[in-house]
Amino acid sequence: MSTAEERTPFKSKDVNAVDLHSIDLDSIDTTNPAPEEEPARQYYFMAKCREIIKERELEDGRRQTANVTTFGCQMNAKDSEKLRGILDVIGYERTESEEADFVIYNTCTVRENANLKVYGHLGYLSNLKKKNPRMIIGLCGCMMQEPDVVEKLKKSYRFVNLIFGTHNIFKFAELLYQVLEGQRMVIDIWQDTDKIVEDLPADRTYSFKCGVNIMYGCNNFCTYCIVPYVRGRERSRRPEDILCEVERLAKDGVIEVMLLGQNVNSYGKTLDEPISFAELLKMVEQVPGIERIRFMTSHPKDLSDELIAVMKQSSKICCHLHLPLQSGSSRILKKMNRRYTKEQYLALADKLRREIPGLSITTDIIVGFPGETEEDFQETLDVVQKVRFDSAFTFIYSKRTGTPAAAMEDQVPDDIVKDRFNRLLTLVQTISQEMATRVEGQTLPVLVESVNDHDDSLVTGRLANNLLVHFPGGKDLIGKIVDVHLTECKGFYYMGEISCEVME
Ligand code: 5AD
Ligand code: SF4
Repeated sequence: MSTAEERTPFKSKDVNAVDLHSIDLDSIDTTNPAPEEEPARQYYFMAKCREIIKERELEDGRRQTANVTTFGCQMNAKDSEKLRGILDVIGYERTESEEADFVIYNTCTVRENANLKVYGHLGYLSNLKKKNPRMIIGLCGCMMQEPDVVEKLKKSYRFVNLIFGTHNIFKFAELLYQVLEGQRMVIDIWQDTDKIVEDLPADRTYSFKCGVNIMYGCNNFCTYCIVPYVRGRERSRRPEDILCEVERLAKDGVIEVMLLGQNVNSYGKTLDEPISFAELLKMVEQVPGIERIRFMTSHPKDLSDELIAVMKQSSKICCHLHLPLQSGSSRILKKMNRRYTKEQYLALADKLRREIPGLSITTDIIVGFPGETEEDFQETLDVVQKVRFDSAFTFIYSKRTGTPAAAMEDQVPDDIVKDRFNRLLTLVQTISQEMATRVEGQTLPVLVESVNDHDDSLVTGRLANNLLVHFPGGKDLIGKIVDVHLTECKGFYYMGEISCEVME
């Protein structure tokens, strides 16, 4: 009998095989039993799924359609690219409409609103399923890691066919096959994992920029946050795997990468051969073809001088740092288990602004954490005024069951939180508009991302500091970096004019 490796088109470290166009499922003998090792096993199930999809195409006289809807953060957006890649290989036609043969929601649970949205959408899907009884409904992502959620789905949402979590997304093809074969509700949730399965297909949203996971999970346990419970312990990918992926992306035309992790500043600490995030950045910088490097998210407590030095000397690392503050009150920061004080945050921001001129600092702020007083809130406003964030995401504290903060007394009344939230938003917006004017009149490189949504004589792109710029140009510029004269700041974005030859 042949070995699993011979049967599949795929050798474990053959990264080119993840190019969607080069995957050859035809060479897989699906009459053999499934191989045990990954990712060969998943390629086997992709081939099995494809057989069923082909049969359904013949029966229905049309292609089978699939919709992937993403809630939440960049990590989820990245995971959805993996889901889409697998669906493409299986033979589904992609659709933006939820009137599809297969619909999967990649869920978020960081705030309660995100959960409510999913339940709302599910009601709509159940109606669609009445029209198309063979429709398959799947749910995955962070929300599925919460046992209460899965119980509720099992009890009251029996029309959902497929439920899996964040740790076993690599098993998507295998689980989908079980549904296609006729199982009514397939549920597979892992509590945690130390496994990182490399080299599965992914379909990129943009041809010229791409997120790259460098680590998974989080060990910080901020007391309000559910992420460590639903994304598990911190695991770093090996630098050689990351570099292989970046090299492959660069060969495929990607010029900007965004390195993704919940806390990139602690990257590499748990590897067999530990390396720092700054060292990883230096390696990524060496990859030919990569022109811009972004990363997120940074935790202030782990941001090293080494990283500042690397950012300072780099011409590729973008002058943008997302540095969540969460609160400006040292007392609240302690209750949040953030492990820095107001003074330490201010000193860090000061150092960053001094060392890296032009750096854009953005942040996340939570209002209404349990026990937050007006004085604590004033400390937050004080930090906002002192740091002058280029932009800030502001959140109303949301109680997440199972987190330490959910059990804290002194939950702040809604009306007080809303009032603080509005005051914070006004201040944050005023400052970001002022900060945005910083580069008015300058000529700076812009990576062109799309034709403008409202006016097709314009294109839209991003400065290294992440601000949007609209300027006259055609779609041939998409994916190119061009120098643009920033003529007018319009609050949170710029209008500009192309200034010189397109850089090739
Ligand atoms: N309530 C409100 N905001 C939260 N965040 C994380 N957990 C909560 C919560 N329970 C915010 C933090 C984090 C961002 C991604 O979401 O500000 O940085
Ligand atoms: Fe949540 Fe804190 Fe981890 Fe960020 S660092 S994911 S806020 S626990």
